Amino acid sequence: MKLGLIGFPLEHSLSPVMQEAALRSAGLEGSYRLLETPPAFLRARLQEVRRVYAGVNVTIPHKETVLPYLDGLSPEAQAIGAVNTIVREGDRLIGHNTDAPGFISGLDEAGIAYRGRRALILGAGGAARAVAYALKEEGAQVALYNRTPERAKALCQALGLHLVTVESLEIAVRSADLLINTTSVGLKDPSSSPLPPGLLPRAGVVVDIVYNPPITRLLREAQQAGLPTLGGLPMLVWQGALAFELWTGYRADVQAMYAAARAQLAQTPI
Ligand code: ATR
Repeated sequence: MKLGLIGFPLEHSLSPVMQEAALRSAGLEGSYRLLETPPAFLRARLQEVRRVYAGVNVTIPHKETVLPYLDGLSPEAQAIGAVNTIVREGDRLIGHNTDAPGFISGLDEAGIAYRGRRALILGAGGAARAVAYALKEEGAQVALYNRTPERAKALCQALGLHLVTVESLEIAVRSADLLINTTSVGLKDPSSSPLPPGLLPRAGVVVDIVYNPPITRLLREAQQAGLPTLGGLPMLVWQGALAFELWTGYRADVQAMYAAARAQLAQTPI
């Protein structure tokens, strides 16, 4: 079973070790390769996928631009407007989005409640879109703040979210039951945070979808303030586990995927 990841650039991805651990655990023969694909080669890469791959993951910068090349979309991928998993069905390529249910599975695994709760999302990129869609579908009250207000406004209108402006940010953060950083602030940089120092929920859970470093500055400050936190690894592992199940029809060994991802992360420079 040939699997892989389409993106550009593709440094330090944890997906090959996670997916190969899941394949081994399920007793399946197969491989998961990094398919580095500059934008100009996306069309050709998808032709190759159609010929020889059972499925692939899709990452930056192709999650949205890949849509016109596909033959069908799952309802989630359609609503989010982004695809992170392609499944080949015969000679058809079907786009799915496992980022959204992957985020929810990570919350469920950690015992974090969201239904009916006030969730505040920081960021308005593709990751914010998947997280916002997932939380909204699951019955959370979702608000969103972004550095660039026009992007926040567009996303809030598209998904029916509450728009938080810079003026209302402080009150929104303090009253959030769930604060989720989906911006790239803190990625490979333990010294930066998407919020000013000292601004944290009064009693909410703080989630950062950044997984490298495992504890971002935002999470460290939340922990120091005594708040419960969740890092980005669960969303990464669960989106991969759900993709594996779509490709193979086998249950993914999530613990084996965690172990493989943690081992690789320990060797990966921040
Ligand atoms: P992705 O698809 O991974 O979510 P993206 O579309 O590039 O990536 O979105 C990145 C997000 O991080 C955006 O919300 C971006 O804010 P802008 O819309 O204002 O660009 C946010 N972001 C990146 N760097 C930031 C910074 N230094 N401060 C605040 N927000 C930042």
